[in-house]
Amino acid sequence: MANVTFSGPTLDKDVTVYAVAGDRGTLLSVAKAANIAIPFQCQDGECGSCLIKVTHLGKNAPKAIHLTDKEKLTLSVNGKLSKETLAKAEVEDMPPAYRLACQYLVQDEDILVEFTGEPGVE
Ligand code: FES
Repeated sequence: MANVTFSGPTLDKDVTVYAVAGDRGTLLSVAKAANIAIPFQCQDGECGSCLIKVTHLGKNAPKAIHLTDKEKLTLSVNGKLSKETLAKAEVEDMPPAYRLACQYLVQDEDILVEFTGEPGVE
């Protein structure tokens, strides 16, 4: 089971969602199901409007490390993914802080998701 805690100015307080196996999907789909208003447009990794900041909680190694090719490109173009940060993700299994909610597949781990409510702004 994954505890996904959402934090953003459009929420009165942080909201924790319990995403169970087989019911996880993307972070954007988990947010939508919980009525968390993370901005989005294309839902396909191309516009960058669903930019979020993810912090892995707990002591276990992070699991949601893999970035899709579209996520890599869009984050890079928007200045949110440096070559060094990408190398750390791909070589050292250190996930980058900034992600796209429509591309991020929720894993069995606890995370904090921060968003501003402004499209493309973390
Ligand atoms: Fe466009 Fe996620 S909604 S990149």
